[in-house]
Amino acid sequence: MAINNNVIVLGLLISSMYSGLATTAFALPAVFDVTKYGAVGDGSPATTDDGDSANSLAFIQAWRAACDSPGVTRVIIPKGTFMVGPVLFSGPCKSTVTVEIQGIVLANPDVTLYSEPEWILFENVDGVTLTGTGVVDGNGPKTWSLNDCSKSSDCAPLPTSIKFHRVNNGVIDGIKSDNAMFFHMFITNCQNVAIRNVKITAPFNSPNTDGIHIGGSTLVNITNSIIGTGDDCISIGHGSKDITVTGVTCGPGHGISIGSLGKYNNELEVSKVLVKNCTLIGTTNGARVKSWPGNKPNKASGIIFEDLIMDHVKNPIIIDQQYGKKKSTEASHVKISDVHFRNIRGTSTTNEVVTLACSPAIPCEGIEISNINLTFDGKQVLHRKVAPNLGVLAICSNAKVTFSGKHDGINC
Ligand SMILES: *[C@@H]1O[C@H](CO)[C@@H](O)[C@H](O)[C@H]1NC(C)=O
Ligand SMILES: *[C@@H]1O[C@H](CO)[C@@H](O)[C@H](O)[C@H]1NC(C)=O
Ligand SMILES: *[C@@H]1O[C@H](CO)[C@@H](O)[C@H](O)[C@H]1NC(C)=O
Repeated sequence: MAINNNVIVLGLLISSMYSGLATTAFALPAVFDVTKYGAVGDGSPATTDDGDSANSLAFIQAWRAACDSPGVTRVIIPKGTFMVGPVLFSGPCKSTVTVEIQGIVLANPDVTLYSEPEWILFENVDGVTLTGTGVVDGNGPKTWSLNDCSKSSDCAPLPTSIKFHRVNNGVIDGIKSDNAMFFHMFITNCQNVAIRNVKITAPFNSPNTDGIHIGGSTLVNITNSIIGTGDDCISIGHGSKDITVTGVTCGPGHGISIGSLGKYNNELEVSKVLVKNCTLIGTTNGARVKSWPGNKPNKASGIIFEDLIMDHVKNPIIIDQQYGKKKSTEASHVKISDVHFRNIRGTSTTNEVVTLACSPAIPCEGIEISNINLTFDGKQVLHRKVAPNLGVLAICSNAKVTFSGKHDGINC
């Protein structure tokens, strides 16, 4: 019939348009939906006959198919709650893959499933994007009681929610990460990674739930994100270089930190870090550099904390080289130099608005404090005690500091 013929002709026309497009830069991505590979979004820990997570297998198979197809591909995790155990998204890939989370990816809280301390791992990939309006939920409340890191510094870490390992040209954009068992995001041995528009949430007293931890990586940018956790909102560990953090709101949490450094043998230095235009709300620390006492040498230099707002922060500006072992008689062997704290204003819940506790073995050098306006406000924040108002001050040891601009008479 005539109408049907027209439909067929139109269909042929559209399919020939698409095949034409497929050879151009405007190719539509080939879509790999995890439910087509057997994933079930009903919140159950679906298992195979062998006891493996059926959803984990489906995620990995969808990734494998996308990664091995040429061109531009997209793995979709649709609406629904997908409980998954460990997932490995490994490259190298033939395509540039985007993983889009529309629903909720919920961690299986049975920690015996995780042979490595990571839940969702992207590894050896060049060019990958993790995006979507969905949620990565680490199911942390079910596992936090197993964390004994407050008792032992050599404790076995629980799984990190999202880990990028040897990922170059990676992007994490828009997703929410809730209640990680351990770190929410860990960027390690990567180059050129952008994290933007993410929202990370965990309670203020959840153990080691760092928002984003970076180590051994260069050219990592974090922008326009909201992070509230039980540990550092962002921590920048050994071997990090060219790191930029802008437009981040942090709180609750332990602040934005360089370190901790000097915990392990053969650490690589941290250099060129810019933390700018960030707001810290009710955190224990604001802008922090921290290192462990003991003979594990390292260096941190070329660090700028600039244009920051402190809203009821306990230690707004702090270098702590006695980190983790307050009573140790050993000195830290991490050299801290060329660190700038500029244009930092707002309120502190203690009088000690500047704390520079540098190493007696290797004093801090080239510390600049310029244009700070930090006032005391003893408002009760979370569980913390309120300090009496004795006037704001700086407490410094073993630090070569230059104050400039406005600093309300605060001096070392
Ligand atoms: C990171 O920021 C720098 C400076 O703004 C920019 O040159 C670089 O392209 C950014 N990198 C990524 C991966 O967005
Ligand atoms: C500063 O950060 C806020 C988010 O906290 C953002 O809305 C604003 O655009 C940023 N300003 C600049 C100049 O980057
Ligand atoms: C310091 O900040 C307070 C508000 O926190 C403000 O009233 C005051 O004008 C500021 N001082 C300077 C010198 O900018």
